[in-house]
Amino acid sequence: MLKKIDRIRLELANEVLNSSASREDYRVRYLGSKGLLKELYQEFKSVASEEKREIGLALNQLKQAIEERLETAGTNDEAPKQQKEINDVTRPASTETVGTLHPLHLITQEIISIFERIGFTQSEGPEIEDDWHNFSALNFPADHPARDMQDTFFLDTPFNQFSLRTHTSSVQVRVMESSTMPVRTISAGRVYRNEAISARAHCFFHQIEGLYIDEEVTMADLKQTLDYFAKALFGPEVHIRLRPSYFPFTEPSAEVDVSCSLCQGSGCNVCKYTGWLEILGCGMVDPNVLSSCGIDAKKYTGFAFGMGVERIAQLKYRVNDLRLYSENDLRFLQQFHL
Ligand code: DAH
Repeated sequence: MLKKIDRIRLELANEVLNSSASREDYRVRYLGSKGLLKELYQEFKSVASEEKREIGLALNQLKQAIEERLETAGTNDEAPKQQKEINDVTRPASTETVGTLHPLHLITQEIISIFERIGFTQSEGPEIEDDWHNFSALNFPADHPARDMQDTFFLDTPFNQFSLRTHTSSVQVRVMESSTMPVRTISAGRVYRNEAISARAHCFFHQIEGLYIDEEVTMADLKQTLDYFAKALFGPEVHIRLRPSYFPFTEPSAEVDVSCSLCQGSGCNVCKYTGWLEILGCGMVDPNVLSSCGIDAKKYTGFAFGMGVERIAQLKYRVNDLRLYSENDLRFLQQFHL
C-alpha cells in the first residue's frame, strides 16, 4: 500500500489544473465521495495493525498534498488579472539600490591608473608567503625584528617557513626572479601584521609596491616618478620631499612626504602643524636583493617604493579610523563614489 501511496504522490505533479473545469475534475477524482482518497482509507481499514502507524502517516501526508495542490492551483487562476497591472508600461520603475565601490578599491584603482600612464604594468603574488620571498631575498638579517612573532602571522608549519605576507615587497622578489629586464611594475594587495586592532592599527591592511629596474636607473628617476605621482594624486600644487631612512632592501632609503594639500604647507591639525604628510617609503634596490633574485647588479640598478593604501585614503577622504574600512557599515561605504 505504501508503494501505491508513493506512486499517487508522484502523479500529482503531472496534474494540469489550469481551468476551473480541470480543478473540479481533479477534486472529484481525488477527494470526491467515490474518489481515490476514499478508496485508500477503505483499504487502510484492512491493513495489519503493526503497519497502521507508518501507512496511516503516509496516507495523511498524501491527503495534505492533494489538498495543497488544489489550493495553489486556485491562486494561479488569479494570475491573468495581476499580469495586466504588471504590464502597465507607463508605471514608474521601482528604484534599485546600486552598490558602491569600496573606498580602498577606488584609491587603489586611481593609483594604479596613474602609474599605468607612465608605463608600469601590474603584478601580483600570493598572500601566504615563504620566508625567502617575504624576508630573506629582501636582505632581512636572520634576527631582524620584523621577522618576530609579534609582527608576523606565522602558519603552523615546521621552521616558521610560511607566513601571511607582511608587505607587498614580496611581489618584487617574485617579479625579479621571473622577468627579463627591464621591469616597471606595481603590485597592489592585502598584507597582514599581528597588531591589536585600534583606530590607528589593524591586523590586515593594503599596500601598493612599485619597482623599476633597468640599466642606469638613478635616484633622480625615483624622485621624478614620485613627484609626478604626488601631483597626479593630490593636485599640481603639491611637492614632495625625501627624508633619509632605512629599509633592509633598499640603499639608500628614504621616506617621502607630500606638502599638506589642506593648508598648502602652512601648518594645520591634519599635518600636525608640520606642513608635511608622510606617504611612502622608497629607495634604490639594494644590490644584494638584485643578486638574490638572479639579476646582474653590476649591469642593472633600480628603485622601489611602497605605500599604505589606507594611509593615502585617510589623506584623501579624511577618514581617521582604520576600522571603518573593514566593518562594512553601509552608512560609511555609501559615501564613496567614482
Ligand atoms: N615594505 C615596506 C613596509 O612595509 C615599505 C617599503 C619601503 C617598500 C621602501 C619599498 C621600499 O619598496 O623601497 O613598510
